[in-house]
Amino acid sequence: MAKQEINIGMIGYQFMGKAHSHAYRDIPFFFDSEVKPVLKALAGRNEAEVNKAAETMGWESTETDWRRLIEREDIDVIDIVTPNHTHAEMAIAAAEAGKHIITEKPLALTLEEAKAMYRAVQKNKVIHMVCHNYRFAPAVQYAKRLIEDDRLGRIYHFRADYLQDFIMDPSFPLVWRLKKEVSGSGALGDIGAHSIDLARFLVGEIMELVGTMETFVKKRPLGEMAGGLKAESEKDQYGEVTVDDAVAFLAKFSNGALGTFEATRFAGGNRNKNKFELNGEKGSIRWDMENMNLLDVYLVDDEPGLQGFRTINCTEEEHPYVGAYWPPGHIIGYEHTFIHLLYEFLQGITKQSQPYPSFLDGVRNQAVLQAVEQSAESRRWVKVEQFG
Ligand SMILES: NC(=O)c1ccc[n+]([C@@H]2O[C@H](COP(=O)([O-])OP(=O)(O)OC[C@H]3O[C@@H](n4cnc5c(N)ncnc54)[C@H](O)[C@@H]3O)[C@@H](O)[C@H]2O)c1
Repeated sequence: MAKQEINIGMIGYQFMGKAHSHAYRDIPFFFDSEVKPVLKALAGRNEAEVNKAAETMGWESTETDWRRLIEREDIDVIDIVTPNHTHAEMAIAAAEAGKHIITEKPLALTLEEAKAMYRAVQKNKVIHMVCHNYRFAPAVQYAKRLIEDDRLGRIYHFRADYLQDFIMDPSFPLVWRLKKEVSGSGALGDIGAHSIDLARFLVGEIMELVGTMETFVKKRPLGEMAGGLKAESEKDQYGEVTVDDAVAFLAKFSNGALGTFEATRFAGGNRNKNKFELNGEKGSIRWDMENMNLLDVYLVDDEPGLQGFRTINCTEEEHPYVGAYWPPGHIIGYEHTFIHLLYEFLQGITKQSQPYPSFLDGVRNQAVLQAVEQSAESRRWVKVEQFG
């Protein structure tokens, strides 16, 4: 039987553009799915650059105005992989045109924008997702299964660090990620938002928190992102950094668990150390993105003398998603988290069943980001708005 084709229109084509393009191409290759995503059109502002990117990544056509992409009748899905200040306008326009939407994280620049995006997708009854890809690592999905099967019992602690170091050099330029009007916040929204998503996925809602933020390098030379986390400095001119370089906060979950969170881009030697530990009454788990196939598990009921963390290589058929790839022990990587997320998104469209994380998850995540900023400013505990 012919597979159902879903035509994708993507806006933006650098770091995340590459991750999403690759994922769409691999879905029908590895997964036995009735759906085939078609890389129909890629939008960018610079004609020569967008044409070059389309050719490299295998897109059929290009547009130099994202509004034109959204108007096209041959497009079913709008995929937004542009900086954060563009997400709301693009997603609301896409929803009004009846397109299904996947948006990169954080969902928006502000909580108000995020709510408006959620209302638009609800009103227009389109399928929506926000790209918190790390929850789609098979080891994290397996951790979720252990929690749901009550293998860890009541959860006491969730402890997350997201550590990077790519902006430590003071000559690293003032790219969009360091400007509040474009990114909303710094380490908090860029990487802390991922830890918040993992926390909400595994433990539940964050009810209140207290936090602090710091900006270590306050001025930088002007410049632009140049693919991945690289950047190019364009001018011998300096501008002010208007976001946090680092953030830490303490949180209380609705189920009584305590959370501690740290996100920084100044943790020298840590390139993408997204890790967490969770402690429950019957056991503990810990995970680290830099060794993403591995899950450390400790179970209180293990035999005395043999107690301790065991390390599981989550590449067995029992572990979510990995059966689609290679034999056990033949590990997978970063790009596979996007394949799994976008696979769920496409399944959601064909089955008309809303997948997660949805825009509502994006709004609740944004409410935590806002509360952290309010707490850092007021130097007080802040209640997190429980939306929806
Ligand atoms: N899920 C993840 O792990 C992850 C990782 C990195 C980035 N992100 C998110 O993905 C988004 C994009 O980040 P990136 O690292 O790919 O950025 P990037 O700077 O590498 O690429 C941004 C792209 O958007 C285009 N663009 C910028 N402004 C535009 C506009 N006004 N109209 C049309 N196109 C525009 C640029 O030309 C470029 O193609 C951000 O929201 C970021 O937070 C998510």
